[in-house]
This record gives sequence, structure tokens and C-alpha cells, in this order.
Amino acid sequence: MNVISPRPNNLDAFWMPYTTNRTFKANPRMLARAEGMYYYTNDNREVIDGTAGLWCCNAGHGRREITEAIQRQAAIMDFAPTFQMGHPIAFQAAAKVAEITPDGMDRVFFTNSGSESADTALKIALAYHRARGESSRVRLIGRERGYHGVGFGGMSVGGIGTNRKQFGALLPYVDHLPHTHDMARAFTRGQPETGANLADQLENLVALHGAETIAAVMVEPVAGSTGVLVPPVGYLNRLRELCDKYGILLIYDEVITGFGRLGTNFGAERLGVVPDIMTMAKGLTNAAVPMGAVACHEKIYTAIVEGAPAGIELFHGYTYSGHPLASAAAIATIDLHHSDDLPGRARAMEANFADGAHSLKGLPNVIDIRNLGLVAGIELQPRAGAPTDRAVKVFQRCFDNGVLIRTTGDIIALSPPLIVEPKHTDRIFSVLADAIRAEAA
Ligand SMILES: Cc1ncc(COP(=O)(O)O)c(C=O)c1O
Repeated sequence: MNVISPRPNNLDAFWMPYTTNRTFKANPRMLARAEGMYYYTNDNREVIDGTAGLWCCNAGHGRREITEAIQRQAAIMDFAPTFQMGHPIAFQAAAKVAEITPDGMDRVFFTNSGSESADTALKIALAYHRARGESSRVRLIGRERGYHGVGFGGMSVGGIGTNRKQFGALLPYVDHLPHTHDMARAFTRGQPETGANLADQLENLVALHGAETIAAVMVEPVAGSTGVLVPPVGYLNRLRELCDKYGILLIYDEVITGFGRLGTNFGAERLGVVPDIMTMAKGLTNAAVPMGAVACHEKIYTAIVEGAPAGIELFHGYTYSGHPLASAAAIATIDLHHSDDLPGRARAMEANFADGAHSLKGLPNVIDIRNLGLVAGIELQPRAGAPTDRAVKVFQRCFDNGVLIRTTGDIIALSPPLIVEPKHTDRIFSVLADAIRAEAA
């Protein structure tokens, strides 16, 4: 164990992201190291990771294969640009990603995060239409309760009020589909059987704005950050049909649903509907080095790149697109994805995980439970006049008792590493059940 300064002297300088800085700094929770299914606090207490970090450490923590690949690459070459230059490992990483994307979606643009992937995907969609002479297609359609990160594109197309209100006018020419959640279908296991017709709302937006103004629809196959909203059976098929009918590109944000989380390589495979563009991040490198990517269908690449006049075809990119260390981490992670059969492990554990989640039905204030693959959302009745308070206290109780969960509003989201075993789920759900009971009042 090699823990550097387990307790920092001063918490002031780090302005923490998406954090109640004042309450956190008064009562900090520090994770000092991690291995397999566990985090260890700065006082060396074991905490089961019920969230794969932030939905990202799918292969479990501290995987030697990934660490060594990063170390090797750091010693060979720390950095080289990918603007008008190349280095082999970035091309190898892109080819590795293309091994597991749906057929035809083999062109990979590298970013450094899910947010950058979302904005990149939206820009590629706009550039695609323009390259084909349809530059009137500038409108972007998202969905209520969608989360596509924090860039101006993803934030605007995203559908979370609190993420938008602080930041002014956002992007113009954006509209939203309704979200797919319905409390009338509470406690559904897996995909709800009804609700596919919600996709038909796209017809209304086409009628309102004109198809010739709409570039793309972007949705998460399963909405994660707003509390695990599982799409109804047939919903994505319908969205695909309507996009095809009106010449609109379908973008999936697979930042959470990629890399085995739903028991398949990507959500597209599990849900049987393939988009034109898909984003990814998180599980791409098991979160060991930040990296995101956008996989595009061949037709998109061809239209933009082959159709362009001589010169740079897409005026977009990041200094660290295809960073050597991130590329090394991605290759090692995808190798583990195959050798550990992470999607197969998720499939094998799905019923056990769903049983555990749905065993919480009947506990005080549990008003809905939903799940797909190794993701579950447990919705609590908010305390009158104090939204989020109950979930925050459940979170703290779980943490104190050795289980890391995640909360969003009054919804608990669980997404353990895909190496989770029944002994872990037993502990996660029994600690969570106790915490929910303890916050009954
Ligand atoms: C679906 C989705 N898109 C985008 C993002 C943003 O990713 P990042 O935080 O890496 O920018 C997230 C993060 O949770 C996400 O869940």
C-alpha cells in the first residue's frame, strides 16, 4: 500500500465538481486507494464500490494489465500531437474500439470525456448535413431528463433544468422529446412493455419545425444520470424509423451504456437498434486515464471526409485526442473486456442484481425500482419540503457502513463494476435496505 498523505491539510483550493462544497468540506469523505470491487478510505476502511466509480470502472479497480500498459507507454512516449501528425498507438486504439462497435460504425474520433464526446457528435451531425448540401438542418433534438455532459452542446440538448438554469441562453435551435418514464409503470423489471408511442412525439417536432431543419436526435439508450430510465420495448425502433423517414441522424450517448454495462458491448446491441453516431467515454479506459470517443457510421465519415475539398475536412479536435497514455489504457481495457468477457459477466449477474434491487420493494418510501443490465434505479419519496435530503442521508449511512452508492435527486443509482459477484450484491442490498429503513421517518 502506498498512500500519499491520506489526509490533506487544506481542502480550500479544490473547487469540487457537482458537489455541495460547503457541506462536503465540513465533513469530507476521502477515498485513498482501490482494488477490485473495493475502495479503501483514508483510514483504511473497506467500501464496496456499488457505482463503478462514476459508472466507469467496469473491469474493477487497479487492473494490473491497464496500469502496466500505461506505465510502458509513458516510458516510450509521453505525448505526441495528432494534428497533422500520428503515433501508432492512437490508430491501434481506434481499431480496437471499432472491433466492438456495431457493424459499419468503424470510424472513431477521440476526445477526453463524455461531455466532449457529446459536443463532438453534435458537431459531426451538423457537418454531415452541410457536407451533403443540407445546411438548413441545424436543429438538435434531445430529450427531457437526458444528460449529455456539461459542454454547451450537451447541456443544451440535455434535459436537466438544474444543469441549464445557471448558464444563460444556451444553444439556439434545440428542442426536446418527452422523457420515457411513467410512474404508472413503477416497479417494472427490465424494459416496460408500454410507452413506445412516446417516440411519436418526434412527428410533432417535425410538424412544428420542418424536417428540413432537423439535424439529429440525441438520446441515451438508458438514461442514467437522471435516475435510470429504461426505454419501453419498441421505443428506440420507432425513433429509428422516424429518423430514417425524415433524414434525421440518430445519435446514442453510450457513455454509461457502453462497454458491457447492459450485458452487450454497447446498448445498441442490447436494445437491437443501431444509431448513426454514438458517443462513449468512462468504460473505454476503465477510467484509468480520461478518454472519450465518437464512433460514426461509414456514411458519415465518407460524406464529411471524402466529400470535402482539399485541406482539413473537419475543423475540430482536442490537443489530447488519441493521447498515447489514454490509447494504451483503452487497448488494455478492451483486451480485458474480451478476456474477462465483461458483457457475459454482466449478463450472468443481471438476474441476481435485479432480484436484489427489487427486494427493496415494500421498504418505507420506496416508490419505484427499475433496472436493465447492471444498472438499477431505486426511487424514494422525497421528504416534504426537503427534496434530496432522504437520499443524501441514505447515501451517508451506506458509506458509513461500507457501501458506495450514488444519488441523483431522491433516486439511488447502482452500477457496480461488471466483475461483481453475489457476495457483493448481497452486501450492497442489505446495507442499502438498512439505510432506507433507518431513514423511514
Ligand atoms: C450519458 C452521459 N453523457 C455524457 C456524460 C459526461 O461525461 P463526462 O463527465 O466524462 O464529461 C455522462 C456522465 O455521466 C453521461 O452519463
